[in-house]
Amino acid sequence: MTTIAEDLFGTLPDGRPVRRWTVRDGSGAGFSVMELGATILTLDVPDRHGAVADVVLGFDDPSRYLTESPYCGAVVGRVANRIAGGRFTLGGKACQLACNNGPNSLHGGTIGFDKRLWSGTSVTSAEGRGVRFTLTSPDGEEGYPGTVEVSVTYVWTEDQRLIVDYAVTSSAPTPFNISQHSYWNLAGAGTSALDHLLRIEADRYLPVDETLIPTGELAPVAGTPFDFRVAKPIGRDIEIDDIQLRHGGGYDHNLVPNGSGLRAVAELSDPASGRQMTLATDQPGLQLYSGNFLDGTIIGKGGTLYPHRSAVVLETQHFPDSPNQPHFPDAILRPEWPLASRTIFAFSVA
Ligand code: GLA
Repeated sequence: MTTIAEDLFGTLPDGRPVRRWTVRDGSGAGFSVMELGATILTLDVPDRHGAVADVVLGFDDPSRYLTESPYCGAVVGRVANRIAGGRFTLGGKACQLACNNGPNSLHGGTIGFDKRLWSGTSVTSAEGRGVRFTLTSPDGEEGYPGTVEVSVTYVWTEDQRLIVDYAVTSSAPTPFNISQHSYWNLAGAGTSALDHLLRIEADRYLPVDETLIPTGELAPVAGTPFDFRVAKPIGRDIEIDDIQLRHGGGYDHNLVPNGSGLRAVAELSDPASGRQMTLATDQPGLQLYSGNFLDGTIIGKGGTLYPHRSAVVLETQHFPDSPNQPHFPDAILRPEWPLASRTIFAFSVA
């Protein structure tokens, strides 16, 4: 029987309380989430001996998510990933966003969805139990047009899948790209994730320029370090002298999963513990980020130091810079066409 408990996670510097929900199944597996950023705080799953460990990075205090978190566990938007120059033109009107990542806009701008206080409520559905968060992003927020109503629902199933459902409407056309930014380390935090095996069903990826904006090409992964079609350790090719890996400081690229609609796109596993995670999504892109900006200075939950590349982020999303690249899948949310999108993290042991 899955239980849900609600408590106060902490208080922000301006006095706002941040509520947390902890969802746990009969085996002790489950997850916790908070209202700030609709963020996944913990995700506990068993290893092959039944020992449960927390496999996501994070912090013990909500304030640290405002000041030093590199988007740990958060929902990122209104537009996840980068927009070149923070500029786009929509319906003949030029829009300028804050450039918070070198010359580009990243993850929704200065105060993206990850830094907003969402409103949570527990939910029970046919698939399981969990939490729904809602947020209103007003017209003009961070320079984006249209009022956007967002809901993100996390549900834990009996067979240990975390289902993430996004439901979004907008009062006017706006670029929109939402993603979940959990940092995974299936061995439990604090160790390198480079030994994890990763398989991604993608024949193509998006090469980038030195500011991580796609060049526009959909390049074959064959013969490159971006070929994950057969499972390999994340670290196997990461030090190859490759211009793309240099631009990213490692992997920080969008792969183009084969097929369309809700489909399995990736599988991550930790050979030592036996924990494995399969990722399914209906989104056209998957950003593979190998924690290159983790510089070994962050001390996270329980005082654990997070070393360089000690986690991997697998962000299901639209292609980066879509508003400026007309041949990419359309990432404009329109009033007449609300968004309903699903991503599933499924856990098992080998
Ligand atoms: C995404 C980006 C990375 C980095 C991280 C957060 O994965 O693609 O470049 O910004 O978020 O540090």
